[in-house]
Amino acid sequence: MARVFSGIQPTGDMHLGNYLGAVRQWVADQDAHDALYCVVDLHAITLPHDPAELAARTRRTAMLLLAAGLDPHRCTLFVQSHVRVHTELTWVLNCVATMGELRRMTQFKDKGQGQESVSVGLFDYPVLMAADILAYDTDRVPVGDDQRQHLELARDIALRFNHRFGETLVVPEAAIPPVGARIMDLANPTAKMSKSAESPTGTIALLDDPKSITKRIKSAVTDSETEVRFDVAAKPGVSNLLSILGAVTGRDPETLAGDFTGGYGGLKTATAEAVVEFLAPLQERYRDLEADPAGVDAVLGEGAAKAEAIADGVMARVRDAVGLLPRP
Ligand code: TYM
Repeated sequence: MARVFSGIQPTGDMHLGNYLGAVRQWVADQDAHDALYCVVDLHAITLPHDPAELAARTRRTAMLLLAAGLDPHRCTLFVQSHVRVHTELTWVLNCVATMGELRRMTQFKDKGQGQESVSVGLFDYPVLMAADILAYDTDRVPVGDDQRQHLELARDIALRFNHRFGETLVVPEAAIPPVGARIMDLANPTAKMSKSAESPTGTIALLDDPKSITKRIKSAVTDSETEVRFDVAAKPGVSNLLSILGAVTGRDPETLAGDFTGGYGGLKTATAEAVVEFLAPLQERYRDLEADPAGVDAVLGEGAAKAEAIADGVMARVRDAVGLLPRP
């Protein structure tokens, strides 16, 4: 059975882009694959953060993943910092990755921009991500389009490691969905929907109430024409709504466009209704989980133990390959 691994940062509230680009695939992959999913709290400290908030956000992100349909009987859900191999393997991979390739990462350039000083952690973020993936002999990594470059780097690092030290690491493949891989900000449809957007009006968090979801979708920025057509370059706002509607209804955005004649009102109403309906069961499950934080912690404890057993085995191979003396 192929091994699947993916991760999400506990920064901000999980939004529709995270769900449609990544988490929806995670839910689907639980049955046919051996799947591990991780809340990557160590990645969340690469930018300034509030220590008083991090633990609560980490637990909340895990609860949202369970509410979204991850089932601890069918997958392994855990917190990155609970399995030490992630940081140990990062060090070894730091000695394989190069400054040049890290400097080329567009996410580093974007996130570092305008910061007075940039931490080494932010620079090294993609190597920690490579360690996350490589620590589990991962075959397949379901992610949104924005992680494509990081995945390429993880593959390059694995290939270089194997070339230098002998076949040790499994070289992973990215799995990027055909629809929903890049959900854009509703208020600024040329930027991706993001947890750290400057204004929240363009983002739909998974726990937003129906009224604000409807309001945000109805005020989505479109263009001055009236024709509903899927054309990302010329009509980014309209195409984004079609992608969202397509992703939540399981239909193709180009075909969907034909359903709407006579302006954007109908498209906006249909998208708002579909999203509200789609999120309702998730929101209900979240409220149940919220009432039982100890149950969620138990899931994370078991998840960490299962993950650790796999990662320890891979790390032992890595230590042996690079020639580290076994502990007597
Ligand atoms: P993060 O936390 O930013 O996002 C989690 C997942 O959501 C996807 N995503 C989107 N998909 C479509 N449209 C959007 N607007 C959108 N915004 C986010 C992301 O592509 C991602 O799949 N570096 C990763 C976390 C990570 C990871 C890993 C992922 C750490 N280690 C190992 C995979 C494997 C990140 O910041 O994702």
